[in-house]
Amino acid sequence: MNYKKELEDPVFQTIAGAAAQLSVDCYVIGGFVRDLLLGRGIPKDIDIVAVGSGISLAKKVAALSPGQPDVTVFKNFGTAMLKIGEQEVEFVGARKESYNRDSRNPIVEDGTLEDDQKRRDFTINALALSLNEKDFGDLLDPFGGLEDLDKKILRTPLEPGVTYSDDPLRMLRAIRFASQLGFTIESKSLEAIRENNDRIRIVSGERIVEELHKILLTDKPSTGFGLLHFTGLLERILPELVALQGIEEVEGQRHKDNFWHTLEVVDNIAGHTDDLWLRWAALLHDIGKAPTKRYDKHLGWTFHAHEFVGAKMVYKLFKRLRMPLNEKMKFVQKMVLMSSRPIVLAEDFVTDSAVRRLIFDAGDHVEDLMTLCEADITTKNPKKKKRYLNNFKKVREKIEEVEARDHVRNFQPPVSGEEIMETFGLPPSREIGQIKDAIKEAILDGEIPNEYEAARAFMMKKAKELGIEP
Ligand code: CTP
Repeated sequence: MNYKKELEDPVFQTIAGAAAQLSVDCYVIGGFVRDLLLGRGIPKDIDIVAVGSGISLAKKVAALSPGQPDVTVFKNFGTAMLKIGEQEVEFVGARKESYNRDSRNPIVEDGTLEDDQKRRDFTINALALSLNEKDFGDLLDPFGGLEDLDKKILRTPLEPGVTYSDDPLRMLRAIRFASQLGFTIESKSLEAIRENNDRIRIVSGERIVEELHKILLTDKPSTGFGLLHFTGLLERILPELVALQGIEEVEGQRHKDNFWHTLEVVDNIAGHTDDLWLRWAALLHDIGKAPTKRYDKHLGWTFHAHEFVGAKMVYKLFKRLRMPLNEKMKFVQKMVLMSSRPIVLAEDFVTDSAVRRLIFDAGDHVEDLMTLCEADITTKNPKKKKRYLNNFKKVREKIEEVEARDHVRNFQPPVSGEEIMETFGLPPSREIGQIKDAIKEAILDGEIPNEYEAARAFMMKKAKELGIEP
């Protein structure tokens, strides 16, 4: 890998020139070097460590760059950031750090390059490339990061217990990198994560979620969630999921392990969509099953209304993790709430009106719902799998056919509430609601077509039934 070539980029020439003028040594470090050496393409973000003031270097670089970009200084952290073209470059002075047990904010002292490399999370993130005249482009690797890249191992430069306790977010980063890069977490490190898992309490919900998003967006999210579970972190972050684990047996009747089933569903959906929120929906689609699980002598295991309970749990979970309570959350809730609807359809004879209702209720998300339901098929019986998939195919075909004919996807009633009020000279009232609803139901049931004339005639008929005259 000829990574020296990447350092010919004018950005690095400018940084090297600025550092030479200030007589400070500086290095590219962290994710940029890691991803470059892994051949993952040229990363957008560049981290520079200066043996001296990172802020002064950033200012000098800005002064020498075309257009003299603004420098954002984070005085408390001793860092500075500027944008050169598309690239964000962050500068920090090399430092030693020690940590207070209750906070992720370190007590900082100036240090050497090696001090700085030592305080980083993983050996593969501690690799540095020199930007100094004397050894430009040399790789500085005191902790064997290159070998670890080669062996695909995540290892901490210090004793793992120290590295994770210093900054517990790194426990999640380890699992995220393992999942993203297909690396193995060194066993000593994995053990340290297990031992330190309670320290995750000092990490903010936002930071946790950022890592969960990244794990969910990997090709095989079950790797990351499996590790989260193994280390005990999942129990602390998403106990609702862990509660799904286990198989119970009563009178010889067993239900499936809904935790491992869920992870399979997430892997399945990852093969069909990159939509983060649809992947969240897959992760949470069964969470209502733990609190609703019952054994009934006649029915066997039941999870009555688990979709409804699950949708409510989504709100609480989002709130606890400080995730946005916006339309993304509503989407996830809707997917959870509707997650069993197409299955019922696929099992029964598919009627037009049932499909119309499904399209009406799912609206623009009917495709996503079908993708979720197909991913939900985890049976190991190939015959059954084929049958289910085939049934869903029929539902999809029916959806297209019905939608092309009836246009109920973004249903707007052909006769509005205003028109009903005007026709009968009535103020907003219960009767107006009743007539409006009756029109909607008649259309969804296929009693009348989704057209103005038919709806108007139906309105007159319904009003008459209610004893209302124009
Ligand atoms: N770092 C660390 N501990 C953290 C976060 C970051 O030691 N909790 C160090 C690592 O050396 C890391 C560098 O800071 O490589 C930059 O961090 P960041 O930009 O957050 O992550 P990257 O490693 O660049 O990777 P990604 O962008 O995929 O998160």
